[in-house]
Amino acid sequence: MNNQKHVRALLAFLLIVSTILACNRLTGTPDVTALPPTTKPESTSTAKAVESAEPKDPLAGSSGLGDSLFPEFGNGGYDVQHYTLDITVNDVSTSDLTGTTTITAKATQDLSSFNLDFIGFEISSITINEQPADFERDGQELTITPSTQLQENESFTVTVQYSGSPDNFISQSLPFQTGWVTFDGGSFVLSEPDGAASFYPVNDHPLDKSFFTFRVTVPEPFEVAANGVLTETIDNGATNTFLFEARDPMASYLATINIDEFDIETMESDGGLPIRNYYATGLPASVRKPFARQGEMLTYFSELFGPYPFEVYGSLVLDIEVGAALENQTMSIYGIDMIDPNDVAGTESVVAHELSHQWFGDSISVADWKYIWLNEGFATYSSGLWIEHTDGRAALDEWIKSIYGSVAANSEHFTPPGKPTANQLFNGGVYFRGALTLHALRLEVGDEAFFEILRTYHEQYKGSNATTEDFIAVAEKVTGKDLQELFDNWLYSEEIPPLPE
Ligand code: TRP
Ligand code: ZN
Repeated sequence: MNNQKHVRALLAFLLIVSTILACNRLTGTPDVTALPPTTKPESTSTAKAVESAEPKDPLAGSSGLGDSLFPEFGNGGYDVQHYTLDITVNDVSTSDLTGTTTITAKATQDLSSFNLDFIGFEISSITINEQPADFERDGQELTITPSTQLQENESFTVTVQYSGSPDNFISQSLPFQTGWVTFDGGSFVLSEPDGAASFYPVNDHPLDKSFFTFRVTVPEPFEVAANGVLTETIDNGATNTFLFEARDPMASYLATINIDEFDIETMESDGGLPIRNYYATGLPASVRKPFARQGEMLTYFSELFGPYPFEVYGSLVLDIEVGAALENQTMSIYGIDMIDPNDVAGTESVVAHELSHQWFGDSISVADWKYIWLNEGFATYSSGLWIEHTDGRAALDEWIKSIYGSVAANSEHFTPPGKPTANQLFNGGVYFRGALTLHALRLEVGDEAFFEILRTYHEQYKGSNATTEDFIAVAEKVTGKDLQELFDNWLYSEEIPPLPE
């Protein structure tokens, strides 16, 4: 029976998520639960600056954006408009590369200096508006001092030239390697939430969304897959240059560059949206099956959530076990262990999850990492919406029941979705109780109002950032109801509330 199949798929997905949380496949680092928390909320970057002997220059941009879980992520005093990542990989087996990142930004205050986040590499030069600039490095913080002070509202260009192989980087929030990962035969990039700085200098917080250009040169026979539209491929003889343009605002952690040999599959949604899927060569044709209905998913979710927010979509399947998938903007990436060709419906749940993130997570970014349920709860519920679309409402109800049962039976493992901690950012509670929160809302307000809420929320916050309060305000505006208590119970109470009838 179909329902049973979905329940099995759900349990498999639960297992994957708990695997993400409990162990690590890539690097052999210790279980994160055995480590002390890496970020103490009270140790803000400002506090650190006050503790240090040097008095803080009042015109120095701050070294963090004040995120409540990760106060040191990102930097203050400027706003990036565009990153151009110009990367030449000299040796794919080590990812030895030379890179030039060019950033156009606007000062939001007078700046005597400002910071970027950047890990590893040797920096050979930094210029601001083509003038050499001084710089200092302290861990992940790269402090740049322009030769002349920048004025509030001034637009400026920073160029950072660097070389070396990306460092292995373990996320503060997940017990495995994030950022640029080199494997035997290629490399991939999965950065949520803090891996971006492992391959380019960046204002690494979703509050600073920007456009991206990728110009990546690799030796024959390798190919490159990055976000956005492939606008040009240049044959240089022994190497090829791939130019990708991501022409919609994008959070820094969603930027991805993947190097491998690929079989490329192209198709279109009914609405004419181009889809390009990248499969690592050598994978059997059967791995493509769960991706065949992405066009239908795009059409269906566009009806439910509003128009698809970008100009292209597609998936990339690695021939390596990652234990996860990630919703990189316009190009979701899957470890091969996320695909089960013998369980197409189950794998489609994961495909629908990543695809729906394009609206919830990518187009609408969190304003603070503590709002992560706005990404994961929505994407998890979208799997249920896909099940409802393919198998009917009874199948959705069955799926909801099994999630509710799992969460209720293991409540000590599931954090309330509205208050994750830094090292439990991707706790199963954020996913499953987050999805149940949306279902509870739907039962409370009815289908018509519920989908009106989702569409209004996306319409209002697309290309931008949102908070939980923003979402609640939309829900209350659309329905004219006071929904505070429902959200308080579902998002913050230790006990999981009963589902409304
Ligand atoms: N956002 C991913 C999801 O769809 C989970 C995730 C977070 C992840 N950080 C990651 C996956 C880093 C791979 C690598 O559930
Ligand atoms: Zn997700």
